[in-house]
Parts: sequence; C-alpha cells; structure tokens
Amino acid sequence: MKSLIILLPAIFIVTLVFGQKSVPPGNLAAWKAAKWEAKPLTDAEKKSKPAQFDNVMGKAQYVRACKACHGEKGLGDGTKAPTLKTFPGDFSSIEFQRQTDEVIFWKTKYGGADMPKYVGKVDDETIWNMVSYMRNFKK
Ligand code: HEC
Repeated sequence: MKSLIILLPAIFIVTLVFGQKSVPPGNLAAWKAAKWEAKPLTDAEKKSKPAQFDNVMGKAQYVRACKACHGEKGLGDGTKAPTLKTFPGDFSSIEFQRQTDEVIFWKTKYGGADMPKYVGKVDDETIWNMVSYMRNFKK
C-alpha cells in the first residue's frame, strides 16, 4: 500500500513531463516561451532616440529590411519565414507590444538566433523609427 502511494504520484509526474509534445519551431507557443533578454542601452543609443518619430521612414525601412521575414503586418508570416528555424514572432501580440521601445530597439540592433544584426548596417535613428512603426501592428 505504501509503495502505491509513492508510485501513483511518480507515474503522474512522469506522464506530465514526458507526455507533453515538444513544440516544433515556427510555433507561437515556442516563441512566447523563448527567453531573449535585451541588454541596457548605452547613453549614446538612448540619446539617439528622436523626440519625434518619422513613421514614413520607419515604414520604408521596415518594408525594405524586415518584411521578408516578419511579414507586412508583423505577424511573422513573411515569404522567408518558412525557411527559418525560429518563428519570427507576432508583433501584433500583447507579448510583443508590452516590451519597451528600448528592448525592441536592442533586439533589432543586435539580433539573435535567425534574427540578423543591424549594428553597423542601419543607424540608431533609423532603428528608433522602425521601433515606432512596429507599434502600428498592435491589435
Ligand atoms: C532573416 C529573417 C529576419 C529578418 C530579415 C529580420 N528578422 Fe527580426 N526576427 C527574426 C527571427 C527569426 C526572430 C525571432 C528570434 C528569436 O526568437 O530568437 C526575430 C525577432 C525580432 C524581434 C524580437 C521579437 C520579440 O519577440 O521580442 C524584433 C524586435 C525584430 N525581429 C525586429 C526586426 C526588424 C526591425 C527587422 C528589419 C530591420 C528584422 N527584424 C529583420 C528574423 C528576421
């Protein structure tokens, strides 16, 4: 009887752990669970944030450099998205939109996984304008 008391919860835990299907890449749940920590910005980066964003410029740059993977509306459904190992994320989601401008700036500039780096390729002011443009994807 005593062994049964130990055995049953053990079986329960094992089923819980191994019973879960591992989430394939390109999956929203996997993306949400992924931890991608942004580092604090430098003083120069903070200073480069424009007082007034240029959304027209932000959009033009987004369409040119980001749309292929992230999709026109930031849903992660660009034409290149199926070739990526990691789902690019859903920019219309609360999970994305609740991040600060600074975090989105950092992720855009320094990249991670299948996300390219833009440091040295796109200047900071342009990145800020893209950050502002990405706010338009909010549901
Ligand atoms: C080659 C495909 C590709 C291109 C081009 C690309 N990205 Fe990404 N991006 C990704 C992938 C894949 C991820 C998810 C990485 C991860 O979760 O580890 C990502 C993630 C991001 C994130 C973080 C999303 C989150 O969950 O917080 C931001 C912000 C971002 N990209 C912005 C941009 C911007 C702005 C551009 C254009 C300047 C761009 N990306 C171009 C593939 C791309």
